[in-house]
Order: sequence, then C-alpha cells, then structure tokens
Amino acid sequence: MSGVTSQETLVILDYGSQYTQLIARKARELGVYSIILPFRATTEEIAAYDPKGIVLSGGPNSVYEKDAPGLNPDVFGLEIPLLGVCYGMQLLALNLGGKVEPGTTREYGNATISLAGESSLIDAKADGSTVWMSHGDHVASVPDGFVVTAKSGDIICAMEDTALGLYGLQFHPEVAHSLEGKNILGRFFDLCGFHRDWSAGSLVDEQVARIQATVGDANVVCALSGGVDSSVAATLVDRAIGSQQTCIFVDTGLLRQNEYEEVLAAYKAIGLNVKPIRAAADFYAKLKDVEDPETKRKIIGAEFIAIFEREAKKVKGTKFLVQGTLYPDVIESVSVNGPSVTIKSHHNVGGLPEKMQLKLIEPLRELFKDEVRELGATLGLPEKMVQRQPFPGPGLAIRIIGSVSPERIEILQKADAIVREEIENHVVRPEVWQFFAVLLPIKSVGVMGDGRTYEQVCAVRAVSSSDGMTADWAKLPHELLAKISSRIVSEVRGINRVVYDITSKPPGTIEWE
Ligand code: XMP
Repeated sequence: MSGVTSQETLVILDYGSQYTQLIARKARELGVYSIILPFRATTEEIAAYDPKGIVLSGGPNSVYEKDAPGLNPDVFGLEIPLLGVCYGMQLLALNLGGKVEPGTTREYGNATISLAGESSLIDAKADGSTVWMSHGDHVASVPDGFVVTAKSGDIICAMEDTALGLYGLQFHPEVAHSLEGKNILGRFFDLCGFHRDWSAGSLVDEQVARIQATVGDANVVCALSGGVDSSVAATLVDRAIGSQQTCIFVDTGLLRQNEYEEVLAAYKAIGLNVKPIRAAADFYAKLKDVEDPETKRKIIGAEFIAIFEREAKKVKGTKFLVQGTLYPDVIESVSVNGPSVTIKSHHNVGGLPEKMQLKLIEPLRELFKDEVRELGATLGLPEKMVQRQPFPGPGLAIRIIGSVSPERIEILQKADAIVREEIENHVVRPEVWQFFAVLLPIKSVGVMGDGRTYEQVCAVRAVSSSDGMTADWAKLPHELLAKISSRIVSEVRGINRVVYDITSKPPGTIEWE
C-alpha cells in the first residue's frame, strides 16, 4: 500500500464545515480509517494515501461566490468512489455540468426525505426518515449520467452515478439527527470496498514498528502529566523501546488530593521507566503572591519546562521527545480556516524540541480522544487513568482564585475530593463531563455551633459537554448538592460557605481562570 499509511484509508477533503471532524469520527466508528486533508490538497498528496474512498465535506460557502473553494478536477482521474456532502454535492454537480441554484432562504434543521428511485446508498427503509439539512444553495439539475435518488419536498437530496462511483447527499449523514445517516455512510464504505476492520487498537503493531525504526538505539524522553494522552503515548513507546525511554513525572504540588502518588504507582505498575521529580516547593515559591491568571499560567509553564529540560539533559544520548499530540490539534493546524484563536495560554512542553534540538515522536497524532482511551484500554492502562476527566496543565493553581499557597492548595484538595467522591458515588451517576471545586478569594460570615465564623468560600463547578468547547452547567440533583455542601463545610476547615456555578460556556469558561 501507500508510503503514508498501511491502512485502508478514506480521505475527507475539508471545505470548512463544522461537521468535517464528525465525518472522520463516524467513519472510524464504522471501522474505516479516515484522514482529513484541506480541500487544496494536490492530487499527489491525496494519492499518497492510496485512498479507497473520498468524501467532499460540507462548507459555509456558495459555489458561486468569488473565491469559493473549488474542486481539483484531477480528483476524478483517480477513479476512486467519491461522496459529496452538502457543499461537496453542489461542487460535484457544478463540476460535472449540473446546475446549482441559490435558495431563497437558508434551510437549517430537520427535514424529511422521500426516495425518488432506486438508490445504492439509501436503503428503502430510509424513505420518510428525518435528515439534518444546513444549506442555502441546492442542486437544481443533476449532471448527465446521474440519477436523483431522494428528495425533500422539491429539493434534490441525493444523486448518484453508480457507473462512475460518484454520489452526492444534500443532507449531512454524519450528524446524529440524520437517523439513517450511519447506515448510508456504511453503504458508501462498502461500495468503496473497505473491509471496515479498523480500530484504534489495530494501530499498536504499526506504531510499535514505526517507533522502533525511527528511534534505533537512541534515547527518548517523555513528560508525563498523569493525563490520558501522555500516559497512553508513553505506554505505546514503552512497548516499542522499553527503557530507552525515560519518563519524567514532575510533582508540581498542583495535582488533586493524593493524585501524584496514585498515578506514580500506576506508572510503576505498568513498568514505565519513570523518574519522579519532587518540585512542589519550587512551584509554590514561584507562585507566591501572584494573583493574575495568565501570569500564573506562564510561571507554571516556564518552571515546568526549566525542570524538564534540566532532567532531560541528564539522560545521555537523547534524540527524541515523546508528545501526546492528538488528531484534532493536527487538523486545527491544517484546517481551511487556520488555527483558532487562543483564549487562554495552554501549558505544555511546546517550544522544547527546538530549544533542546530534539525530534518529535507523536504516536497519537492520528487519533481522536475517545480512540486514545480505547487504545489505552487495549494497552492495559487502568480504567481510572484511561477515563480521567480533563485536568488543566496548571492544575489547582487556576482553581484557586487569587494567590496560591500550600495551605490554600490543601483546603482546595480536600473540598475537591468531596465533590468528586459524592458525584462519582451518587446513586444515579450524573452525566457530567467535568466536576471540581474552586477556592474563592473572599471570606463570608457563618455560624457554627455557638460561634461566629469568618472563612473562605468554595464554588462547585460541574458541566456537561462533549468536547469542552461549549458546555452547560450540570443540573445536579438538589440532594446531591446539599450533601456536597454540608460535607465541605463540616469537614474542610477554612471553608464555611459553598456556592454552585450556574454559568454555561459561552459566555463563561469551564475553568475560572
Ligand atoms: P476552558 O476553561 O477554556 O476549558 O473552558 C476548556 C477545557 O480545557 C481545559 N483546560 C486546560 N487543559 N491545559 C490543559 O491541558 C490548560 O492550560 C487548560 N486550561 C483549561 C479545561 O479543564 C476544560 O476541560
């Protein structure tokens, strides 16, 4: 097969739809390895993947706009089955001599399709089913050789030319609201000839071989954070080269209660060659009296890098740095719209490879987060580590509003442990993405026993989300909130009041700093 990957591959050309990643994910769920390329990709770049199928994604433009993203006609010369979705279907029609008309209004939301003829993509049972539409223009007449296979009212919803292996769908099969969407995609993949046997776990052997070939007898360093990505990346590299990898795990003093020790024990149990670095006192000293959130983040990032660099230099013959880069980061940097704006500076080891003249090993750069979890489970990582909720690099420092001190860290750790314990053990575990405590820089008056108290306030944050980009505050049962509140006030000295954060994102962010 191709030089880029040995998997049977689906290439998705990205025209800027918010759903492009969803096409890639749906394909992978259906056992088809998929990658996203910008629509500008050259025929050679596409052919390098030796794709068995191509999808043209949707996009926000009209095909008639000046500078609208176009379709490289050489793609047809590859003679690979091709599916155009929404804007992709309109491009297909336009390029092959069909007609696209601007709509009078933009159709957005659920629609019903009716089959207009025999379709090799859409099963008869999809007749009358709901699909998700989001378009202004539509195909008014299909190119010669194509047949219309489904309509929604008067709008052409599906077309195909089976002889050429070309298909178009006006609706979005990748969106869950299109009830038959997954089946339709599955049929397209079958028509392409995919075996549909890909899974994240099937990457292990290929990655192990790739890492061995790249590294040879050099040494490799890895910064462990306790998070899913670095843990899975390090474990995969360990499978390939064992103790040639040194994992540096810095105790920043900013993790949750007992977390550093627990995670360290888990790393040792897996057999990772891990070097613990106790540096909490250094971080606390650098953070003393610092209140500004961005300054805190920068100090923590810089201190982490300084420690990592110092420790990594002690490992002789190091030529590579392992990083847990994921596919969404890779796509973001190649997307049609360019990288999105940074709202908060994120803490990672970026910048280090150039400074230390190391080459990167990024064994997860083809995977989505849920696939990394699946791979972690395949590699035998403990459930707790694989299912760990997102935790910011700067840790509890950005959940303590105002200045950070060892005392305030300890207070927050205790309150946070109660929040997690109560939510995790609630009779019906609520569907929440992230939950934690935040320590506020204000004091309030309370009464306990016979005495008046004047102590700190703690906020509880629990959100539902699917990717952290948007979030809603979780509607936790009142009795659960009551239990959390009464336990914190009675068990954590230093806190006498608990409030619940009812802000969604946007306009709020998940973290408070
Ligand atoms: P915000 O607060 O921006 O957070 O709504 C979105 C998601 O990102 C996590 N987060 C971070 N993760 N380093 C990270 O690795 C960071 O500096 C960082 N800041 C926020 C946050 O926990 C949430 O899941």
